Amino acid sequence: MLFSYHNPTRILFGRGQIAALAECLDPQARVLLIYGGGSIRKNGVYDQVARALAGHSWWEFSGVEPNPHMETLDKAVALVREHGVDFILAVGGGSVIDGSKYVAAAALYDGDGWDIPSRRHTVRSAVPLGAVLTLPATGSESNAGAVITRAATGEKLPFGAPAVQPRFAVLDPDTMKSLPERQLVNGIIDSFVHVCEQYLTRPTGAMVQDGYSEALLRTLAALAGDFAGRDDDLWRANLMWAANQGLNGLVGVGVPQDWATHMIGHEITARYGLDHAVTLALVQPALLRVRLEAKRAKLAQMGRAVFGLAPGADLAERTVDAIEALYRSLGIPAGLRAAGVAEPDAPERLTDALTRHGMTALGEDGAVTPEVARAILTRAL
Ligand code: NZQ
Ligand code: ZN
Repeated sequence: MLFSYHNPTRILFGRGQIAALAECLDPQARVLLIYGGGSIRKNGVYDQVARALAGHSWWEFSGVEPNPHMETLDKAVALVREHGVDFILAVGGGSVIDGSKYVAAAALYDGDGWDIPSRRHTVRSAVPLGAVLTLPATGSESNAGAVITRAATGEKLPFGAPAVQPRFAVLDPDTMKSLPERQLVNGIIDSFVHVCEQYLTRPTGAMVQDGYSEALLRTLAALAGDFAGRDDDLWRANLMWAANQGLNGLVGVGVPQDWATHMIGHEITARYGLDHAVTLALVQPALLRVRLEAKRAKLAQMGRAVFGLAPGADLAERTVDAIEALYRSLGIPAGLRAAGVAEPDAPERLTDALTRHGMTALGEDGAVTPEVARAILTRAL
C-alpha cells in the first residue's frame, strides 16, 4: 500500500450550518455565488446564503444546468474577471459545484476553456471556492474532480486538480427536503457506484478501505431498503454523509480503482441525456457480468459483507443480481432501451466516442478495451 492522503475541505455538517459559512470567508472577500436553475430560490437556501453573505461584496450567477455546459459557465468566468472576484461560492448539487470548479480554473487561464476538461491545459491555480451542498450524490463538495459538458460537440469529460477542491463545504441535510424523489434515488445510486468503483476490483488485503467501503455500501443499501422512510432527519443525514464519504478520496487510497462504469456512463449522458446515476445503474450490472471472472473474489466478499448472502460457488453471480435488484427496487428501468435509448447502433456509437476520448483501456487492469465496452453496452441494452 502506498499513498499520500490530504483532504483539505472543512466540512460544516448539520442543521443551521449555512449561517456558519461566514466564518470561513475572509471579510474582505469579493464573492461570486453560483447556482443552478432556481431550486435554492424556492426552498429558502438562497435566503440563508444571502444572510450569511451580508457585509461581504458579492455577485451572483444562476442558470448552471444539470451536466453543466462550458458555454454557460464561460459567462460566469467573464463575471469573475469583470468584478475582480476572489472567492466562488457554489450552492447546489454536483453540477453547480463541478461547474464552479471549472469557472475557478478557467478564470485564471487565458486559453480556450475546453483545454481544461480535454487536459490540454493542466490546472495549477484557481480562484478559491467553497460549497453549500443541496443534493448528496457526487462527493464533489470535498473532492478535486469535476465533469464538464461542451454542448456544441456533445462531449462530457472529467478533470481534476487540487486547486479546485473546495476549501469548505456546508452539508445541511435540511436542504434535501425539497429534493424530488428522482434525485434522492440518483443520490443513493451514484454514491453506491462510487464506492463500488473503488472496492469492486481485486482483493488486496486492505482491511480498512474494504471495511469502510462495506460500511458505506451497507448504509446505502439500508437507505434504499427504507426508501419509504425518506422523509426523516436521520435518513437524510445518513445519505448526505455516506455520499460525501463515498467520494472524498478516503476509501480509494492505495487500492486499485475501476471507473469504467463512470466513463461509459458519461458518454451515455452526453449522447442521450440520461441522468448520470441512471447510466451507472444500467451499465454497472452489465459490466460486472462481462468482467465477472476478474472481479469474482471481490464480488463474493461484497455478497457476504454487504448483502449477507450465503456462501456458494455462484456467490459472485448472486451478488450482481442483488446489486441489480437494489437499483430496480428504486425504479431503474430494465435496460438502456427501456430508459429511452432508441438508436439501434447505440453500443457502436458510444464505443466510438470512448475511443475518440482516448478511453481504450479502462478498468482497474486496463482490460475494458473498445470491444469489451461494446459487449458491456450490448448487454446493457
Ligand atoms: O438547478 P437546480 O434548480 O438547483 O435543480 C437541480 C437539478 O435540476 C436539482 N436540485 C439540486 N438540489 C435540489 C434540487 N432540487 C430541489 N431541491 C434541492 N435541494 O437537482 C437537479 C440535478 O442536479 P445536479 O447537480 O445535476 O445533480 P447531481 O448532484 O447528481 O450532479 C450530477 C453531475 O455531477 C457529475 C455528473 O457527471 C453530473 O454532471 N459528477 C461529478 C463527480 C465529481 N465531481 O466528483 C463525480 C460523479 O461521478 C459525477 O460524474
Ligand atoms: Zn458518479
